[in-house]
Amino acid sequence: MLKELIPSLLSCMLAMNSVVEASSPQPHSIKAREANETTPRNFGVVVFRAMLMQDMIGVVDPLQNMAHKFPMNLYILSSTLDPVTTEPASAAMNVHNSSFWPTINPTHTFATAPEDIEVLIVPGGPGVRAPDVSAMTNFIRDRYPKLRYLLTVCTGAGLAAKSGVLDGRRATTNKSAWKTITSYGPNTTWVSPARWVVDGNIWSSSGATAGLDLTFAWIEHIWGQEWAEYVMGLQEYVPHPQDFDPFAAKFNITPTGSL
Ligand SMILES: *[C@@H]1O[C@H](CO)[C@@H](O)[C@H](O)[C@H]1NC(C)=O
Ligand SMILES: *[C@@H]1O[C@H](CO)[C@@H](O)[C@H](O)[C@H]1NC(C)=O
Ligand SMILES: *[C@@H]1O[C@H](CO)[C@@H](O)[C@H](O)[C@H]1NC(C)=O
Ligand SMILES: *[C@@H]1O[C@H](CO)[C@@H](O)[C@H](O)[C@H]1NC(C)=O
Repeated sequence: MLKELIPSLLSCMLAMNSVVEASSPQPHSIKAREANETTPRNFGVVVFRAMLMQDMIGVVDPLQNMAHKFPMNLYILSSTLDPVTTEPASAAMNVHNSSFWPTINPTHTFATAPEDIEVLIVPGGPGVRAPDVSAMTNFIRDRYPKLRYLLTVCTGAGLAAKSGVLDGRRATTNKSAWKTITSYGPNTTWVSPARWVVDGNIWSSSGATAGLDLTFAWIEHIWGQEWAEYVMGLQEYVPHPQDFDPFAAKFNITPTGSL
């Protein structure tokens, strides 16, 4: 009985597998790409109180699809190993005493972060405006010279600016927080309109969901267009072009810098 069941179960599983593959074909170049030593492997994401989960997840989720196909490690980095909450820093800032604040567990502290992190992801959120962000900015400043890429989303560019790594570089940030965040980087060429900006190995995006567009462009840069399209299919995402930025006008930003 069982013996008869196993082959039919197996063929059912195989059939399911081929259905999955038919609906999401993956690029043919997978073998060559797997052997490509230049593909980044070790990723870190900086997390902090009152961050925005979307900023982090918009980068991490698409890349997670790539981690099913390539060896990739994600390190979640903060000042301590305590869970990091999106809760406002003080009760006074939580006007309605809401309890709507997810948490995330760091895997390492800034002090114990693996030395071989190649790509650092810096999300934004209200916590960027906290009076003391030096734990994050010191880490970004120390690690930047060893990184292959720095990716900032939204007001995360504010942390990068305060750490000095955006000096003399072009970058963009959250359009609704433009004045505050750009003031953190007086020697940065801030670019608007821009969905995202690339200057050398620093990729910065506009507000929250713009991080998705930055990520797909970056996946294309690293793994190629076929892979970017493969992941867009899995995420059912239609990307925006780099010059898509209705929010620049919405928030009355005088055009500045260039893509
Ligand atoms: C805030 O909400 C918590 C429950 O989530 C409750 O225990 C606490 O008493 C509330 N504080 C105020 C000031 O309403
Ligand atoms: C963008 O800026 C606006 C205005 O300051 C703020 O409400 C919003 O939370 C910011 N988004 C992020 C992700 O920081
Ligand atoms: C910006 O550049 C000016 C002139 O080079 C310099 O004096 C100033 O210290 C710089 N500011 C920052 C925050 O790097
Ligand atoms: C390795 O990756 C680089 C950068 O994406 C690309 O230019 C190169 O063609 C790749 N090599 C192979 C063998 O896939």
